[in-house]
Amino acid sequence: MMNALGQPGTVLLVGGTSGIAGAIVDALLRSRPCEVVLAARPGPRRDAVARALTARGAVVDVVDIDAEDVDDLVAVLGAALAGREVDLAVVAHGRLPDQDALERDPAAAGRLGTVNFSSAVAVGLLLAQLMRRQGHGVIVALSSVAAVRPRASNYVYGATKAGLDAFFVGLGERLRGTGVRVLVVRPGFVRTRMTAGRAAAPFAVEPDQVAHAVLGRLARGGVVWVPGALGPVMTALLWVPAPLWRRLDR
Ligand SMILES: NC(=O)c1ccc[n+]([C@@H]2O[C@H](COP(=O)([O-])OP(=O)(O)OC[C@H]3O[C@@H](n4cnc5c(N)ncnc54)[C@H](OP(=O)(O)O)[C@@H]3O)[C@@H](O)[C@H]2O)c1
Repeated sequence: MMNALGQPGTVLLVGGTSGIAGAIVDALLRSRPCEVVLAARPGPRRDAVARALTARGAVVDVVDIDAEDVDDLVAVLGAALAGREVDLAVVAHGRLPDQDALERDPAAAGRLGTVNFSSAVAVGLLLAQLMRRQGHGVIVALSSVAAVRPRASNYVYGATKAGLDAFFVGLGERLRGTGVRVLVVRPGFVRTRMTAGRAAAPFAVEPDQVAHAVLGRLARGGVVWVPGALGPVMTALLWVPAPLWRRLDR
Protein backbone atom coordinates (compact mmCIF):
# COMPACT_ATOMS: atom_id res chain seq x y z
CA MET A 1 0.00 0.00 0.00
CA MET A 2 1.20 3.55 -0.70
CA ASN A 3 2.17 5.40 2.50
CA ALA A 4 0.97 8.89 3.42
CA LEU A 5 3.71 10.43 1.22
CA GLY A 6 2.53 8.45 -1.79
CA GLN A 7 5.55 6.10 -1.67
CA PRO A 8 4.85 2.58 -2.91
CA GLY A 9 4.92 -0.48 -0.64
CA THR A 10 4.99 -3.06 -3.43
CA VAL A 11 6.91 -2.49 -6.65
CA LEU A 12 6.81 -4.72 -9.71
CA LEU A 13 9.80 -4.56 -12.05
CA VAL A 14 9.17 -6.15 -15.44
CA GLY A 15 12.67 -6.49 -16.87
CA GLY A 16 13.96 -6.50 -13.32
CA THR A 17 17.65 -6.51 -14.27
CA SER A 18 17.35 -3.28 -16.25
CA GLY A 19 19.82 -0.59 -15.22
CA ILE A 20 17.10 2.06 -15.30
CA ALA A 21 14.61 -0.04 -13.30
CA GLY A 22 17.40 -0.75 -10.81
CA ALA A 23 18.06 2.94 -10.35
CA ILE A 24 14.35 3.60 -9.76
CA VAL A 25 14.03 0.94 -7.07
CA ASP A 26 17.34 2.06 -5.51
CA ALA A 27 16.00 5.58 -5.19
CA LEU A 28 12.78 4.26 -3.65
CA LEU A 29 14.65 2.14 -1.13
CA ARG A 30 16.47 5.25 0.09
CA SER A 31 13.20 6.55 1.55
CA ARG A 32 11.26 3.40 2.43
CA PRO A 33 11.70 -0.38 2.52
CA CYS A 34 9.46 -2.07 -0.01
CA GLU A 35 8.49 -5.42 -1.43
CA VAL A 36 9.89 -5.96 -4.91
CA VAL A 37 8.43 -8.40 -7.41
CA LEU A 38 11.39 -9.01 -9.71
CA ALA A 39 10.04 -10.32 -13.01
CA ALA A 40 13.00 -11.14 -15.24
CA ARG A 41 14.69 -13.86 -17.22
CA PRO A 42 16.34 -16.33 -14.87
CA GLY A 43 20.13 -16.25 -14.65
CA PRO A 44 23.11 -14.96 -12.71
CA ARG A 45 22.30 -11.32 -13.48
CA ARG A 46 18.85 -11.62 -11.93
CA ASP A 47 20.23 -13.55 -8.96
CA ALA A 48 22.73 -10.76 -8.33
CA VAL A 49 20.01 -8.08 -8.49
CA ALA A 50 17.80 -10.07 -6.09
CA ARG A 51 20.70 -10.43 -3.63
CA ALA A 52 21.57 -6.74 -3.83
CA LEU A 53 17.95 -5.67 -3.24
CA THR A 54 17.59 -8.06 -0.30
CA ALA A 55 20.80 -6.66 1.20
CA ARG A 56 19.25 -3.20 0.98
CA GLY A 57 16.22 -4.28 2.99
CA ALA A 58 13.74 -5.14 0.24
CA VAL A 59 11.57 -8.24 0.42
CA VAL A 60 12.16 -9.80 -3.00
CA ASP A 61 9.92 -12.19 -4.88
CA VAL A 62 11.35 -13.51 -8.13
CA VAL A 63 9.19 -14.36 -11.18
CA ASP A 64 10.55 -16.08 -14.31
CA ILE A 65 9.48 -14.35 -17.52
CA ASP A 66 10.53 -14.24 -21.13
CA ALA A 67 8.92 -11.44 -23.12
CA GLU A 68 9.34 -13.36 -26.39
CA ASP A 69 6.50 -15.66 -25.29
CA VAL A 70 3.51 -13.38 -24.65
CA ASP A 71 1.05 -16.14 -23.70
CA ASP A 72 3.41 -17.55 -21.11
CA LEU A 73 4.30 -14.06 -19.86
CA VAL A 74 0.66 -13.18 -19.22
CA ALA A 75 -0.04 -16.53 -17.54
CA VAL A 76 3.03 -16.42 -15.29
CA LEU A 77 2.72 -12.76 -14.34
CA GLY A 78 -1.04 -13.05 -13.85
CA ALA A 79 -0.56 -16.00 -11.48
CA ALA A 80 2.25 -14.26 -9.58
CA LEU A 81 0.18 -11.11 -9.07
CA ALA A 82 -3.14 -12.80 -8.25
CA GLY A 83 -4.44 -11.65 -4.89
CA ARG A 84 -1.68 -9.11 -4.27
CA GLU A 85 -1.53 -5.35 -4.54
CA VAL A 86 0.97 -3.59 -6.75
CA ASP A 87 1.47 0.11 -6.02
CA LEU A 88 4.06 0.79 -8.70
CA ALA A 89 4.93 -1.21 -11.81
CA VAL A 90 7.91 -0.38 -13.99
CA VAL A 91 7.74 -1.85 -17.50
CA ALA A 92 11.44 -1.79 -18.34
CA HIS A 93 12.20 -4.84 -20.46
CA GLY A 94 13.52 -4.15 -23.92
CA ARG A 95 16.35 -4.68 -26.38
CA LEU A 96 18.34 -2.43 -28.68
CA PRO A 97 19.97 -4.76 -31.21
CA ASP A 98 22.28 -3.71 -33.98
CA GLN A 99 20.10 -2.45 -36.82
CA ASP A 100 22.20 -3.98 -39.62
CA ALA A 101 21.84 -7.38 -37.95
CA LEU A 102 18.05 -6.92 -37.81
CA GLU A 103 17.94 -6.01 -41.50
CA ARG A 104 19.75 -9.27 -42.30
CA ASP A 105 17.36 -11.28 -40.10
CA PRO A 106 13.69 -10.25 -40.51
CA ALA A 107 12.51 -12.94 -38.08
CA ALA A 108 14.72 -11.46 -35.35
CA ALA A 109 13.22 -8.04 -36.11
CA GLY A 110 9.76 -9.57 -35.65
CA ARG A 111 10.80 -11.02 -32.30
CA LEU A 112 12.08 -7.60 -31.29
CA GLY A 113 8.57 -6.30 -31.95
CA THR A 114 7.24 -8.94 -29.58
CA VAL A 115 9.71 -8.10 -26.81
CA ASN A 116 9.65 -4.30 -27.05
CA PHE A 117 6.01 -3.78 -28.05
CA SER A 118 3.53 -6.70 -28.02
CA SER A 119 4.58 -8.06 -24.64
CA ALA A 120 4.46 -4.56 -23.16
CA VAL A 121 0.88 -4.16 -24.42
CA ALA A 122 -0.09 -7.43 -22.74
CA VAL A 123 1.64 -6.46 -19.49
CA GLY A 124 0.04 -3.00 -19.58
CA LEU A 125 -3.46 -4.44 -19.94
CA LEU A 126 -2.84 -7.03 -17.22
CA LEU A 127 -1.66 -4.29 -14.84
CA ALA A 128 -4.59 -2.07 -15.79
CA GLN A 129 -7.03 -4.84 -14.80
CA LEU A 130 -5.28 -5.44 -11.50
CA MET A 131 -4.87 -1.77 -10.58
CA ARG A 132 -8.43 -0.89 -11.55
CA ARG A 133 -9.61 -3.53 -9.09
CA GLN A 134 -7.35 -2.06 -6.39
CA GLY A 135 -8.48 1.46 -7.27
CA HIS A 136 -4.91 2.77 -7.27
CA GLY A 137 -1.44 2.26 -8.72
CA VAL A 138 1.10 3.76 -11.09
CA ILE A 139 2.41 2.14 -14.27
CA VAL A 140 5.74 3.50 -15.48
CA ALA A 141 6.56 2.60 -19.10
CA LEU A 142 10.05 3.08 -20.53
CA SER A 143 9.62 4.62 -23.98
CA SER A 144 12.42 6.53 -25.73
CA VAL A 145 13.16 9.61 -27.79
CA ALA A 146 13.58 7.06 -30.59
CA ALA A 147 9.76 6.81 -30.57
CA VAL A 148 9.38 10.39 -31.75
CA ARG A 149 10.80 10.61 -35.28
CA PRO A 150 12.03 7.61 -37.31
CA ARG A 151 15.71 7.60 -38.23
CA ALA A 152 17.39 5.45 -40.88
CA SER A 153 19.92 4.31 -38.29
CA ASN A 154 17.46 2.83 -35.77
CA TYR A 155 13.99 2.75 -37.29
CA VAL A 156 13.23 -0.85 -36.25
CA TYR A 157 13.86 -0.16 -32.54
CA GLY A 158 12.22 3.26 -32.95
CA ALA A 159 9.08 1.69 -34.43
CA THR A 160 8.73 -0.70 -31.48
CA LYS A 161 9.12 2.21 -29.07
CA ALA A 162 6.64 4.36 -31.03
CA GLY A 163 4.08 1.57 -30.66
CA LEU A 164 4.78 1.19 -26.95
CA ASP A 165 4.62 4.95 -26.42
CA ALA A 166 1.27 5.33 -28.22
CA PHE A 167 -0.16 2.39 -26.29
CA PHE A 168 0.80 3.67 -22.83
CA VAL A 169 -0.22 7.27 -23.56
CA GLY A 170 -3.59 5.89 -24.67
CA LEU A 171 -3.83 3.60 -21.64
CA GLY A 172 -3.19 6.59 -19.39
CA GLU A 173 -6.13 8.39 -21.03
CA ARG A 174 -8.30 5.30 -20.69
CA LEU A 175 -7.54 5.01 -16.97
CA ARG A 176 -8.27 8.64 -16.10
CA GLY A 177 -10.61 8.85 -13.12
CA THR A 178 -9.92 5.27 -11.97
CA GLY A 179 -7.18 6.13 -9.45
CA VAL A 180 -4.59 4.46 -11.71
CA ARG A 181 -1.93 6.61 -13.37
CA VAL A 182 0.42 5.92 -16.27
CA LEU A 183 3.78 7.64 -16.64
CA VAL A 184 5.46 7.38 -20.04
CA VAL A 185 9.20 8.04 -19.80
CA ARG A 186 11.09 9.29 -22.86
CA PRO A 187 14.79 9.18 -22.09
CA GLY A 188 17.51 10.01 -24.57
CA PHE A 189 20.80 8.14 -24.25
CA VAL A 190 21.15 6.50 -20.82
CA ARG A 191 24.45 4.88 -19.78
CA THR A 192 23.38 1.30 -19.06
CA ARG A 193 24.25 -2.17 -20.33
CA MET A 194 21.98 -1.45 -23.31
CA THR A 195 24.17 1.36 -24.57
CA ALA A 196 27.55 0.00 -23.42
CA GLY A 197 30.14 0.35 -26.18
CA ARG A 198 28.07 2.92 -28.11
CA ALA A 199 29.18 6.53 -28.49
CA ALA A 200 27.13 8.69 -26.13
CA ALA A 201 24.55 10.90 -27.83
CA PRO A 202 24.03 14.57 -26.88
CA PHE A 203 22.05 14.96 -23.63
CA ALA A 204 23.28 11.57 -22.32
CA VAL A 205 22.30 10.85 -18.71
CA GLU A 206 22.97 8.35 -15.95
CA PRO A 207 20.21 5.94 -14.80
CA ASP A 208 19.82 7.78 -11.48
CA GLN A 209 18.84 10.93 -13.40
CA VAL A 210 16.03 8.93 -15.02
CA ALA A 211 15.04 7.61 -11.58
CA HIS A 212 14.95 11.14 -10.16
CA ALA A 213 12.72 12.35 -13.00
CA VAL A 214 10.40 9.34 -12.64
CA LEU A 215 9.95 9.67 -8.88
CA GLY A 216 9.26 13.38 -9.30
CA ARG A 217 6.38 12.58 -11.65
CA LEU A 218 4.75 9.55 -9.97
CA ALA A 219 2.01 11.67 -8.43
CA ARG A 220 1.02 13.19 -11.79
CA GLY A 221 1.65 10.60 -14.47
CA GLY A 222 1.65 11.78 -18.10
CA VAL A 223 4.88 12.04 -20.08
CA VAL A 224 8.34 12.88 -18.81
CA TRP A 225 11.44 13.52 -20.96
CA VAL A 226 14.87 12.82 -19.52
CA PRO A 227 16.62 15.16 -19.47
CA GLY A 228 13.75 17.66 -19.54
CA ALA A 229 15.45 19.73 -22.29
CA LEU A 230 14.79 16.89 -24.75
CA GLY A 231 11.07 17.74 -24.73
CA PRO A 232 11.39 21.07 -26.56
CA VAL A 233 14.38 19.83 -28.59
CA MET A 234 12.54 16.78 -29.96
CA THR A 235 9.37 18.80 -30.56
CA ALA A 236 11.43 21.28 -32.61
CA LEU A 237 13.16 18.43 -34.48
CA LEU A 238 9.76 17.16 -35.63
CA TRP A 239 9.61 20.26 -37.83
CA VAL A 240 13.09 19.92 -39.30
CA PRO A 241 12.82 19.19 -43.08
CA ALA A 242 13.70 15.61 -44.09
CA PRO A 243 17.00 16.46 -45.90
CA LEU A 244 18.36 18.19 -42.79
CA TRP A 245 17.03 15.42 -40.54
CA ARG A 246 18.97 12.89 -42.67
CA ARG A 247 22.17 14.89 -42.23
CA LEU A 248 21.64 14.98 -38.45
CA ASP A 249 21.25 11.20 -38.44
CA ARG A 250 24.76 10.56 -39.82
N1 LIG B 1 19.64 2.93 -22.12
C1 LIG B 1 19.09 3.83 -22.92
O1 LIG B 1 19.78 4.67 -23.53
C2 LIG B 1 17.59 3.88 -23.08
C3 LIG B 1 17.05 5.04 -23.67
C4 LIG B 1 15.67 5.11 -23.86
C5 LIG B 1 14.87 4.06 -23.47
N2 LIG B 1 15.42 2.94 -22.90
C6 LIG B 1 14.52 1.85 -22.55
O2 LIG B 1 14.57 1.66 -21.15
C7 LIG B 1 14.29 0.28 -20.85
C8 LIG B 1 15.35 -0.24 -19.92
O3 LIG B 1 16.61 -0.18 -20.59
P1 LIG B 1 18.01 -0.16 -19.82
O4 LIG B 1 18.77 0.97 -20.39
O5 LIG B 1 17.80 -0.26 -18.37
O6 LIG B 1 18.67 -1.46 -20.45
P2 LIG B 1 19.15 -2.84 -19.80
O7 LIG B 1 19.88 -2.58 -18.53
O8 LIG B 1 19.84 -3.53 -20.91
O9 LIG B 1 17.78 -3.57 -19.43
C9 LIG B 1 17.00 -4.23 -20.39
C10 LIG B 1 16.13 -5.22 -19.68
O10 LIG B 1 15.31 -5.89 -20.62
C11 LIG B 1 15.33 -7.28 -20.32
N3 LIG B 1 14.99 -8.12 -21.43
C12 LIG B 1 15.53 -8.16 -22.67
N4 LIG B 1 14.96 -9.12 -23.40
C13 LIG B 1 14.04 -9.72 -22.61
C14 LIG B 1 13.13 -10.80 -22.78
N5 LIG B 1 13.04 -11.48 -23.93
N6 LIG B 1 12.32 -11.13 -21.75
C15 LIG B 1 12.39 -10.47 -20.58
N7 LIG B 1 13.25 -9.46 -20.34
C16 LIG B 1 14.06 -9.09 -21.34
C17 LIG B 1 16.76 -7.52 -19.84
O11 LIG B 1 16.83 -8.76 -19.18
P3 LIG B 1 18.14 -9.70 -19.18
O12 LIG B 1 18.96 -9.29 -17.99
O13 LIG B 1 17.59 -11.08 -19.05
O14 LIG B 1 18.86 -9.47 -20.48
C18 LIG B 1 16.91 -6.30 -18.92
O15 LIG B 1 16.27 -6.54 -17.71
C19 LIG B 1 14.22 -0.45 -22.20
O16 LIG B 1 12.87 -0.60 -22.57
C20 LIG B 1 14.91 0.53 -23.15
O17 LIG B 1 14.43 0.37 -24.47
C21 LIG B 1 16.76 2.84 -22.69
